Amino acid sequence: MRSVIDKLAQTSNLTDEEFALLLEELSEEDSEYLFAAARSVREREYGKDVYLRGLIEFTNYCKNNCYYCGIRCGNANAQRYRLTEDQILSCCEQGYALGFRTFVLQGGEDPYYTDDRMVPLVAEIRKRFPDCAITLSIGERSRESYQALFDAGADRYLLRHETANPEHYSMLHPKELSIQNRKECLFTLREIGYQIGAGMMVGAPGQTTAYLIEDLRFLQDLQPHMIGIGPFLPHKDTPFKDEPRGSYHLTLQLLSILRLMFPKVLLPATTALGTIHPLGREKGILAGANVVMPNLSPTNVRGKYLLYDGKICTGDEAAECHGCMEKRMERIGYQVVTSRGDAKIK
Ligand code: 5AD
Ligand code: FES
Repeated sequence: MRSVIDKLAQTSNLTDEEFALLLEELSEEDSEYLFAAARSVREREYGKDVYLRGLIEFTNYCKNNCYYCGIRCGNANAQRYRLTEDQILSCCEQGYALGFRTFVLQGGEDPYYTDDRMVPLVAEIRKRFPDCAITLSIGERSRESYQALFDAGADRYLLRHETANPEHYSMLHPKELSIQNRKECLFTLREIGYQIGAGMMVGAPGQTTAYLIEDLRFLQDLQPHMIGIGPFLPHKDTPFKDEPRGSYHLTLQLLSILRLMFPKVLLPATTALGTIHPLGREKGILAGANVVMPNLSPTNVRGKYLLYDGKICTGDEAAECHGCMEKRMERIGYQVVTSRGDAKIK
């Protein structure tokens, strides 16, 4: 097994058979070896720096009905909210004072946020915070819309592919959504000039090793700047409420595999990872991740942006999350930095 890990570290690639071996047969001892290999690549590329993204969950309205997601339109129990432009700007203001230089505007696919509303909002953030990166995470839109938002000042776009396999994709989503369109959106975003983020849920219902390898191959083809992965966690008001959660250990192993495959990629230790284990984000960093995304949303809406049950940080102020993250990273010998935190990729 160690020779396979060494090969991955040296060549950033493996055969499908070797990936399968790594994903299915890794002992605890060998996972420590894998984590250490990933950590050394991470430290070569990014030192001990941890990049921060301030996450602003600005709407939980969504027109989609993904089977795994707590804010799916079919969930009548979700209490819906939208932040006003003033509220969003004040989140940025607070975040800036705390040292955030990237704002991630994330929301459901909310038809209220037409280009006529989104473009001026992005332009205003761009004007007020010229030294910050603006990241959007608002789902599938037209090329024209992506272009208009880019022209207004958005730099980055997060759109997880969720799973690269069409059959698996259709097990997770209603027929209105297709992997083909998802992939097209990602390639369009990259063509326009966005730094892009993709990624999958680990242990989503129906996932197999072969599907995970397809995810890795798709990522090799796409070459995104960021790869966001986290364990699948069930939400009580979704069709997947009784499905088992994804594996914590497999998520950590995949983080390391991704770090070795893509030495310079931005790899967040996600909120889902922090939810499945109290030290999940720390372990994620120690497995090769280099980004954390503390929540900047106003406290009164946090408990409403629930993609899965048990989400952490729903009761904390922005400053608390920021301070908490600083301490957590210091405790493991890393430091959060005040910078846009661009990927060291072209
Ligand atoms: N468990 C884990 N992750 C989820 N996401 C959505 N629902 C869940 C869930 N139940 C992830 C998806 C989405 C991202 C914003 O959150 O991958 O792209
Ligand atoms: Fe939110 Fe620790 S990161 S409270």
